[in-house]
Amino acid sequence: MKTAQNVREMSVQIFYLICQLVKKDRARIFFTDSYVKERRWIVKKIFVIFGTRPEAIKMCPLVKEMRKHAELETVVCVTGQHREMLKQVLEAFEIEPDYNLDIMKAGQTLFDIQTSVMEKIKPILEAEKPNVALVHGDTSTAYAAAQACFYLGIPVGHVEAGLRTYNLQSPFPEEYNRQAIDIISKYLFAPTEHAKENLRKEGKNPENIYVTGNTVIDALRTTVRDDFQHPEHSQPADIRMRLHTAPRTENLGDARTQMIRAIRRIVDRYEDVKVVYPIHMNPIVRKTAHAVFDGTDRVHLIGPLDVIECHNFMARSFLVMTDSGGIQEEAPSLGKPVLVMRDTTERPEGVEAGTAKLVGTEEETIFREACRLLDEEAYYQQMAQAVNPYGDGHACRRIVDALI
Ligand code: UD1
Ligand code: UDP
Repeated sequence: MKTAQNVREMSVQIFYLICQLVKKDRARIFFTDSYVKERRWIVKKIFVIFGTRPEAIKMCPLVKEMRKHAELETVVCVTGQHREMLKQVLEAFEIEPDYNLDIMKAGQTLFDIQTSVMEKIKPILEAEKPNVALVHGDTSTAYAAAQACFYLGIPVGHVEAGLRTYNLQSPFPEEYNRQAIDIISKYLFAPTEHAKENLRKEGKNPENIYVTGNTVIDALRTTVRDDFQHPEHSQPADIRMRLHTAPRTENLGDARTQMIRAIRRIVDRYEDVKVVYPIHMNPIVRKTAHAVFDGTDRVHLIGPLDVIECHNFMARSFLVMTDSGGIQEEAPSLGKPVLVMRDTTERPEGVEAGTAKLVGTEEETIFREACRLLDEEAYYQQMAQAVNPYGDGHACRRIVDALI
């Protein structure tokens, strides 16, 4: 009796595997979710790790997509490299992490983040024994978690693989982080063909590279709403609003002061311009912004917006000025010209498409470029109508397909 059952189960297993080999979707025509879930040999455990706001915005839609598939068991671990800004995203996407390493401390250094993540994640990974661990992008969280997985022999999947400036000092330490993660990753989820090409040129195995689009475009499909309302938007219709964010570590110091001074000059020159500046919680960023803008009308310094607010603010802005990575991808998708206040970018696609412009960090250039967009209607329209190169909003589904 037992032998007959075993033979039946084995035949089913072989049938399932053949179906999967022929075409992944075929297998699921014959097997229900509950059948799949009961059979541990089918289910893959995917351990997802993130810790900062941008990683969370780009990984939460993926977690949601993975949870729709019985073939995947998803465990979410946040490092807490960010605290309040991470919480805002988790709440917006209604995701409750299974683990929170809660590592953040005021004025944390790269050493603090690296050592705390490595130490705290080790016993969790050893207990969970995932089939694959997913990290995102280029933060210290992603790097430390990927390194921990590498030491423990856990295959790593890198979401947003292949972004490069090839300058290890810019952005620092992110350029090193992402290159290092790509060296040890088994799954390389490149958001664009350009990113894939970078990986291919570096000699990465083409079979491990999947061009998926950027998951942030998937996020935008759920966050941007026609009926969104906020007091910041109750201004007269003739006011042009610009959204400005500038949190990068490499831009702390003189560059930051120059960017902020340029914004100040723009507001002084155009009476119909209002700037909303949601400030990152990094205390160094906050100090400079308050020093230049406090008491200025039409520059609203506000705390970090939650992701739904931020995306809807951008959708209703005239122009976006930023040195943020994620915003460079989101603004084009929302049809907004974006001035990138950095000297280098690992996201050249937006610049090539004509929707983003790299304007550096000097006050005079930033001021001049912003004036051009505010003054020249045809130039503005040309940038606003360029095609978004960052994906079609189905990146998460493509990642899931690769994992199953
Ligand atoms: C980090 C990432 C950077 C990413 C950015 C996104 C690294 C090395 N840096 O930089 O790649 O672009 O996040 O925002 O991984 N803080 C809070 N509450 C928060 C978040 C931050 O108080 O919710 C304060 C803390 O004092 C903290 C400081 O900001 O020590 C810096 O945070 P940290 O993550 O180390 O650096 P970021 O500049 O945010
Ligand atoms: N963002 C947000 N609230 C804000 C400012 C930014 O939700 O007040 C979002 C933004 O839409 C983008 C991401 O945060 O998705 C960018 O994060 P950040 O600029 O911190 O990091 P980077 O992308 O530069 O790594």
